[in-house]
Amino acid sequence: MSKIKFFSGEKIPLEMHKVRIVQKLNLLPIEERLKAITVAGNNTFLLNNKDVFMDMLTDSGVNAMSDRQQAAMMVADDSYAGSETFTRLHDKLKDIFNMEFFLPTHQGRACENVISQTYVKPGTIVPMNYHFTTSKAHIDLNGGSIVEVITDDGIEVTSNHPFKGNMDTNKLKDIIRENGKEKIAFVRMEAGTNLIGGQPFSLQNLKDVRKICKDNDILLVLDASLLSDNLHFIKEREEQCKSMTIKEINHELAAQCDIIYFSGRKLGSARGGGICTNREDLYTDMRELITLYEGFLTYGGMSVREMEALAVGLEETMDEDIISQGPQFISFMTDELIKKGVPVVTPAGGLGCHINAMEFVSHIPQEEYPAGALASALFIASGVRGMERGTMSEQRNPDGSEVLSNMELLRLAMPRRVFTMSQVKYAVDRIAWLYENRKLISGLRFVEEPKTLRFFFGRLEPISNWQEDLVKQFRKDFPDSL
Ligand code: F0G
Repeated sequence: MSKIKFFSGEKIPLEMHKVRIVQKLNLLPIEERLKAITVAGNNTFLLNNKDVFMDMLTDSGVNAMSDRQQAAMMVADDSYAGSETFTRLHDKLKDIFNMEFFLPTHQGRACENVISQTYVKPGTIVPMNYHFTTSKAHIDLNGGSIVEVITDDGIEVTSNHPFKGNMDTNKLKDIIRENGKEKIAFVRMEAGTNLIGGQPFSLQNLKDVRKICKDNDILLVLDASLLSDNLHFIKEREEQCKSMTIKEINHELAAQCDIIYFSGRKLGSARGGGICTNREDLYTDMRELITLYEGFLTYGGMSVREMEALAVGLEETMDEDIISQGPQFISFMTDELIKKGVPVVTPAGGLGCHINAMEFVSHIPQEEYPAGALASALFIASGVRGMERGTMSEQRNPDGSEVLSNMELLRLAMPRRVFTMSQVKYAVDRIAWLYENRKLISGLRFVEEPKTLRFFFGRLEPISNWQEDLVKQFRKDFPDSL
């Protein structure tokens, strides 16, 4: 929580910024919300933003930018090749990662495409602390497969382990021994591990993983999309880092990695993305795919304005006051929900507040997508748009059977600097109401199911008319409230 203590003893995340631009919001009546989610096939990705009150779908590309980012966008240098803007971005990346080479891309998954096409061959495997949807999809597409090497603590929904994103180094050694190092395409570490609730790894763990990779001559790739949260938690929770600056921690992290890639929609609160390395051979391996898929080497699909905003955003990521705002709000929301008995992922991580749907709606079997059903129910109850992160976000096995997710989470992302305390309290209030009425919620089934990344545009229907019952109960309890 904030370093500023309140006389009252209340734990309140105090913002170290002021808000000078605002955007009007709209809250539809519940009957309209039910219509909107029905038209969206019960998939929160398919809702129109005009029908959404609090958009907690993601923190991707929707964090509030700073005045300095906005100002930088006005002085961009537009040029296909060799623009000053690119040089500024490249210099900033060298400064924060101490890495010489940079390949720009239009967003994070584009980096995954390039890295996977270059290093994943059919039959190879990629051990990782935990998968992310797009990173796994690109590895699968190139004939490889992933192995998750998360510590047992990582998939405990409630815990007080400070670094649930750590890789289990003994398991990693076993995998290398069993498969042979030639079969390992690379090892992937994900900062702020997304799908287990935005959980960090420790600097020590990354160093241990690095040593194993080095001993076996295996590349270590860092997905730094959620690095800012991870840096905050290392500074807060890792004893040996307490006296280091964020930038010093970052340098030490980067020094462990062969390749760092990121989504600029998250890291740097801007847009775009890119791949950094200190090894010229790796840079050369990947370079051609940038010009093939992304654009020339000095923009990679980004506009100069995005690049300017990203350069400033990356610099601001080294500022503790700036990067602590997200995790502090998430921690506040998580604590408020715990007070009301709502099952959530603990400790609170980065990215967002994660509700444990497996327990919230324990009566819904995983084949009926408990987290998806809860996402739909919460939108109906509140106009808050969250994201299913459970079985719906998995891909079926080749034989058509479901891959049941380790966790069924409803992710409520906290875009940085976007929501106020009273909005967060509203979301908590409606979630608490829904928890009281959880037995009314039932499952969903697909009516349109895409083969790849089905959660993005698949459509589902309720297995009964539970949604109408939910609306009736809401109207009973809130006869004249939106
Ligand atoms: N890696 C991680 C850890 C991510 O969280 C994301 C995106 C990506 C890679 C892909 O980056 O979207 O720029 O192509 N996560 C978003 C989310 C989509 O909502 O969690 P991208």
